Amino acid sequence: METRILSGKKVSSSFYTSIKPRIDSLKSSDIIPGLAVLLVGDNAASAVYVRNKTKKFNELGLYSDTITFSDSVSQDEIISKIQELNLNQSFHGILVQLPLPDQINDDIIINSIDPKKDVDGFHPYNLGCLISGKSGFVPCTPKGIMRILDYYDIDLSNKHVVVVGRSNIVGRPISILTSMKKKFSNATTTLCHSGTKNISQYTQNADVVILALGSPEYLTDKDVKEGTVIIDVGINRIKDSTEKGFKLVGDADYESMIDHAGAITPVPGGVGPMTIAMLVENTVEAAEKSINSSL
Ligand code: GUN
Repeated sequence: METRILSGKKVSSSFYTSIKPRIDSLKSSDIIPGLAVLLVGDNAASAVYVRNKTKKFNELGLYSDTITFSDSVSQDEIISKIQELNLNQSFHGILVQLPLPDQINDDIIINSIDPKKDVDGFHPYNLGCLISGKSGFVPCTPKGIMRILDYYDIDLSNKHVVVVGRSNIVGRPISILTSMKKKFSNATTTLCHSGTKNISQYTQNADVVILALGSPEYLTDKDVKEGTVIIDVGINRIKDSTEKGFKLVGDADYESMIDHAGAITPVPGGVGPMTIAMLVENTVEAAEKSINSSL
């Protein structure tokens, strides 16, 4: 069977066209949506993600500033920076790039962000809104996955979705979004994780598999039935002989899925561009809410 390639590049480019009037309208009220990014330590992958995010903000004429801290920064220093940013009206969104060094407690840091500026949707207030179906900031990667499915007309109702990975960033929130009683959702969702015996037994019964475990080329064609939709969130670096010394691969064995899966998101160019697009959307939304609290 021919496998459809679900291009996040294509979906994000259509999204950027559609959000432009909202950005222009804010600019005509002298508001430039602004994002503060906190980058701690020297994790190479985090530095690349942050660079890509700020590059897109610049391209769109939005404002962003990256505040860097050394690996040995104290928790209190980060918290006092966040408290300052919470009050700074030039920033509508605040993002702390994860992971953080061991001496820092992620939860305490995230809890110190004003939920109105939590454009990552990681604050317990926004996660509570997500679980209870209220409006709030939805984490960018899961939100982007739903947009890809929507764009390619992949309706999840009455389908079996198997999510592999239970992180707060992707696995848990996407399990909630896919199972919501809502158009294009309404799936029966199974959440597999490191405590699941024989994950393949579940993925073989899936209509849609969402991979967010961070394990290079983990899932092969043998683990899914023909026609399964594969959403691959993994971005793994594996060593190769190129000048860079590595290449990026997903959590799915892409080659084996071609002509077997019904559809698949490539790595790179699949879910990744949508995470950035949804960060733009959440920041624009935060800026809109800053002038109209009834939104
Ligand atoms: N690390 C990996 N993904 C993300 C993300 O979406 N947001 C933040 N802040 N950190 C991450």
